[in-house]
Amino acid sequence: MACIYQHTELTRLLSRYDADQLCVLIDDKLSPVTRHPSPVTLRLPISESLKTIQTVELIWDFLLQHNITRRGLLICIGGGVLTDLGGFAASTYKRGIDYINIPTTLLAMVDASTGGKTGFNYRGLKNCIGTFHEPVATFIDPSWLTTLPARDILNGYAEMLKTGLLDNGQWAMDNGQCLWNALLQYDLDEMNIEQLTPLIRRCIEVKSSIVAADPQETGLRKALNLGHTFGHALEEMQMVNGTSSNGTLPHGYAVLYGLIAELYLSVTKLGCPREPLQQLTQLMLHYYGRPVCKCSDRDKLIALMHQDKKSERAAEINCTLLSDLGQPLVNCLISQDEANQALDYLFSL
Ligand code: GLY
Repeated sequence: MACIYQHTELTRLLSRYDADQLCVLIDDKLSPVTRHPSPVTLRLPISESLKTIQTVELIWDFLLQHNITRRGLLICIGGGVLTDLGGFAASTYKRGIDYINIPTTLLAMVDASTGGKTGFNYRGLKNCIGTFHEPVATFIDPSWLTTLPARDILNGYAEMLKTGLLDNGQWAMDNGQCLWNALLQYDLDEMNIEQLTPLIRRCIEVKSSIVAADPQETGLRKALNLGHTFGHALEEMQMVNGTSSNGTLPHGYAVLYGLIAELYLSVTKLGCPREPLQQLTQLMLHYYGRPVCKCSDRDKLIALMHQDKKSERAAEINCTLLSDLGQPLVNCLISQDEANQALDYLFSL
């Protein structure tokens, strides 16, 4: 269950657990949580480069030190890296304890904190080790977003754009506008939480309905990976090369670039209309900037795409593509030539 935050809902949920079995995992960049009586708390530095088994061990140790039993509840407060790590630790500790997510970034609100995917990076591969373990609840409080820099909002907005591309009109906004058009019209220069909140809510509803139909990603849920075959490879390339200031390309930026590459393939392979590709390209040029990978990185990128979790056989490149807005096709196999053409297109912009 994901809901826009309500204090009473959270209080009711916490009352189902013994007080000494509640524990908090929180990103140490956030101020201490004062809104709720604070149980034992682990504050950790969190970043993509710390999304490792060593950080998971710190969480397991914390749970052990505080005698958390199978009746415990881990409350994860932070961005998507933290909720993925906390969820993984909870899913494996004593064969699984309950956890809830209180996402504090847009990316975590609209994607990472719902749907039960948990995990950490391994040998340079994104979320290579992980589990499916649904949080008991996810509480979305958009007021966390007011203090975030524009880059963090753009990071999450890319996942919202991906969700908009998957909507076939079923998820129109209350004013009848389709989700994709509503997302294109939202003014990213003027961060207005009130206008953003219904878009966040709709994106979570779209994701939740897809996850409910295919929780273990045997088919339909792969639609949520639109943009991610190329996106993850670009992100992993940065993790390996360490070319940006902290050694990583933000996930949402990588997804935005991946969406452009995969929409290009959707147009050339499946006859998808060009308009969404052109609209995304405009957004990239205006807000996100061009990707920093070089054409010479392409062999490495293609090798990374072969390792993508969606692949069902070794050495295939498996993408989700669109035959039209809101018409995803999962398990589209891409040849090396086609992958190179999509990279050519992306790097030529
Ligand atoms: N982030 C894609 C999914 O949860 O399936």
